[in-house]
Amino acid sequence: MITIRHSQQIMTIATATFFAAVCFSSSAYTQSSEPTFSRDVAPIFQEKCQTCHNPEGIGPMPLMNYAQVKPFAALIKDRTTKGIMPPWHNDTTTGIQSFKNDASLSEAQITTIAQWVDEGAIEGNPADLPAPIKLSNGAAWQLSDQLGPPDVIIKSTPYNVVANGQDQWWTPNVRFEGMDKERWLRAAEFKPSYPLGKKVVHHGHAVLIPEGEKRQVALARYGVGKSWEMYPEGTGMRVPAKGTIAWNLHYFPVGIEGDNDVVEVGLWFYPEDRQPEFETAGEAMFRVDGLNGMARGQDIVIPPHGYQVITGTHVLQEPAIIHSYRPHLHMRGKVMTMEAIYPDGRTEVIQQVNKYNHNWQISYIYEDDVKPLLPKGTVLQFTSVFDNTVNNPINPDPNQWVVFGRRGVDEMSHAWVGITYINEEQYATAVGARRASQETLSLD
Ligand code: HEC
Repeated sequence: MITIRHSQQIMTIATATFFAAVCFSSSAYTQSSEPTFSRDVAPIFQEKCQTCHNPEGIGPMPLMNYAQVKPFAALIKDRTTKGIMPPWHNDTTTGIQSFKNDASLSEAQITTIAQWVDEGAIEGNPADLPAPIKLSNGAAWQLSDQLGPPDVIIKSTPYNVVANGQDQWWTPNVRFEGMDKERWLRAAEFKPSYPLGKKVVHHGHAVLIPEGEKRQVALARYGVGKSWEMYPEGTGMRVPAKGTIAWNLHYFPVGIEGDNDVVEVGLWFYPEDRQPEFETAGEAMFRVDGLNGMARGQDIVIPPHGYQVITGTHVLQEPAIIHSYRPHLHMRGKVMTMEAIYPDGRTEVIQQVNKYNHNWQISYIYEDDVKPLLPKGTVLQFTSVFDNTVNNPINPDPNQWVVFGRRGVDEMSHAWVGITYINEEQYATAVGARRASQETLSLD
């Protein structure tokens, strides 16, 4: 550590001397190697903050220019060095580290921001500013850039949002007449109204019950931090032509009211003549108590000022590929770990979320080359840790006993896992392809 600092200092001095020699003329801005907003920090904010911290975004204050950022400099250093902002709660010391939607700052970016704040949060030369980025409109479909407009749009029935109160649920059933034949879903996006819905819809599901069947087709599941799902190429979900959509919308009042709020879900399908190779059920719920077939949450009993750890196991009856992981706990939830115990006894942490925060429902989407390929008989083991002490910054009341319940002040403990079950032949092919690509990599 010391050596690195030392060499950085030497570099700093060398660069400063260089610029002193070159820029002795009367430039209004002396070039320096200490980080400036314009040159070093603005590009990071464009990449990692402004999608939310813009005048219409869900972030509480815009961070678009120096004047807006400067008053928050100390708070920004605090939140970024603690890993609270941007919201991304993965444990970087264990399990998978390669995600399609990684929102976190790199170590270098965190250091740049901290140094910039420590050295006075200076503006630097506005000429160094990067060109402004184009922010997508909050009312637009996020997937439309990649996929064009949705093939089918479904809508919830209107709901009158109240300004104050406790959690509210809106669960209309709506007929689905969307298509003339069964289709294969490629992607789905859940879109609350904008700007109101984006602020008050905490999470929600749209589940299709096919006509005359008990099967549930979970078209879209949403939480702040997760709004769309796109299945890997060649993987799709079978969607019947007709049925009933059971909406389950959880509104959380934020002091703003509005009538006739409607949530939309956009659906993108594979071409009609194409049947993807893998059929997925999308995100499946894995209970952390492992007690399937029994009432949920019966073993959540968290003592005042105390902790509780619960673990549950699920044996895979078929080989499977895991695409994504989305832990669901409430305000006392702190950690959720997903491990694989392989048939040969080896144990591996697939992923651990160790800074869980109930305000965010983040789906961690795995890069293709790291997606777990699990043989039949693998035990998926989930472990949740609850923190009901004063150390938990969002604990509403550490004096209470906490049990299972739907409200945010009660607890839950399950994971939504994007999983596709495959047959032995598909498993062997997938493992072979993975090995081949790793060998190519190591030869490079
Ligand atoms: C996905 C949206 C999102 C992204 C990306 C994001 N933020 Fe935030 N930020 C929020 C929301 C929402 C809040 C308020 C609620 C909370 O703290 O969770 C917040 C809160 C903050 C706060 C605390 C404000 C206060 O008054 O307490 C700071 C500071 C902050 N963000 C800085 C940043 C910085 C710097 C980045 C980029 C490095 C960033 N955020 C990225 C959404 C976001």
